[in-house]
Amino acid sequence: MHKTILITGGAGFIGSHLVRLMVNKYPEYQIVNLDKLTYAGNLANLKDVESKPNYSFIKGDIVDAEFIYQLFDQYNFDGVIHLAAESHVDRSIENPNEFIFTNVVGTANLLNAARKSWKGAMEGKLFYHVSTDEVYGSLGDSGFFLETTPYDPQSPYSASKASSDHFVRAFHNTYKLPVVVSNCSNNYGSHQFPEKLIPLFINNIKKNKSLPVYGQGLNIRDWLWVEDHARAIDVIFHEGKNGDTYNIGGHNEWTNIDLIKLLCKIMDRKLNRAEGESAKLISYVTDRAGHDMRYAIDSTKLQNELGWVPSLQFEEGLEKTVDWYLENEEWLENVTSGAYQQYYDQMYLSR
Ligand code: NAD
Ligand code: TYD
Repeated sequence: MHKTILITGGAGFIGSHLVRLMVNKYPEYQIVNLDKLTYAGNLANLKDVESKPNYSFIKGDIVDAEFIYQLFDQYNFDGVIHLAAESHVDRSIENPNEFIFTNVVGTANLLNAARKSWKGAMEGKLFYHVSTDEVYGSLGDSGFFLETTPYDPQSPYSASKASSDHFVRAFHNTYKLPVVVSNCSNNYGSHQFPEKLIPLFINNIKKNKSLPVYGQGLNIRDWLWVEDHARAIDVIFHEGKNGDTYNIGGHNEWTNIDLIKLLCKIMDRKLNRAEGESAKLISYVTDRAGHDMRYAIDSTKLQNELGWVPSLQFEEGLEKTVDWYLENEEWLENVTSGAYQQYYDQMYLSR
């Protein structure tokens, strides 16, 4: 069946994997990718699909309400999959306001436009909001985040995502807007901007730069292969229950330091360095303010109700990720030129 689907943030890390999946898997859909192309958005991420007839790109800002209303009038979207966001916790600590504008106001603009566009004809429409497990806060040594876990966001990033999740549910409860929300754990894979832990450390190891481990490196994250996240979004978009929330995660918890040591080992092998060489770059630095201790997702609901399961073991996925960054040096050089150096100096020189 023909559908016109708006994907926001499709030039970013997860968005580009989702756009690729949807464009290739559903030739009968028209996929419209709306992205502001901030530092994190890069059209080179989508080179392989840009000339497909069922794909189009629009540069624009979700904070611009007038523009968003016009876009919905023009395209009459059947569905929205909303990923556009400011996504990096450290940046949210430096400057929370951008997160409030894009993540909260931007989401509200999209909800208002969908409500107006679909008024009186909600059947078959869907607003899918892509969110994070960070809205649930920080876990102790045991337990997992369930869909029913109360929200307890700790960083400006997670507070802005939590706020946007609440607005999505409020539009469902108040105006009967058809919505689904998913909350996913940390993603890793190709095309991730090298400010996040894994690509930053791959780049630093390659360049023999120090590896800034926050605090004691004992914080725990639950890592999921980005293509498994994109597959989960596809399944939830097509089969998820109106108004429901789905947690997405791969039961794959690592302390930061164990992950970093594994990464160093893989890099030693790939770069023909003596074992232990890359790990010498590890440097413990001042902890992140308000650093969440542990995230761990229980995705039983998604697995039992919709049959989604993660496809890759972490060691295999990490190795594939390293290979991608080493084979795509030009991509890495392009995204780390210009403003990146300034960001890096500001974030790390004083730590
Ligand atoms: P990203 O930072 O790589 O990409 C975000 C994209 O949004 C970029 O292409 C950027 O240009 C675009 N964008 C930013 N502000 C915009 C605006 N005002 N208007 C239009 N476009 C704008 O982020 P990501 O890691 O791909 O995350 C995508 C979504 O998934 C986010 O909503 C994030 O909260 C969520 N998420 C991320 C992770 C993760 O581990 N990366 C985990 C769970 C959920
Ligand atoms: P990050 O990739 O920023 O994801 P998030 O904060 O959303 O979980 O960080 C992952 C973990 O790695 C987190 O516990 C913070 C830590 N970290 C470092 O120790 N050093 C770094 O330079 C970065 C970017 C992160």
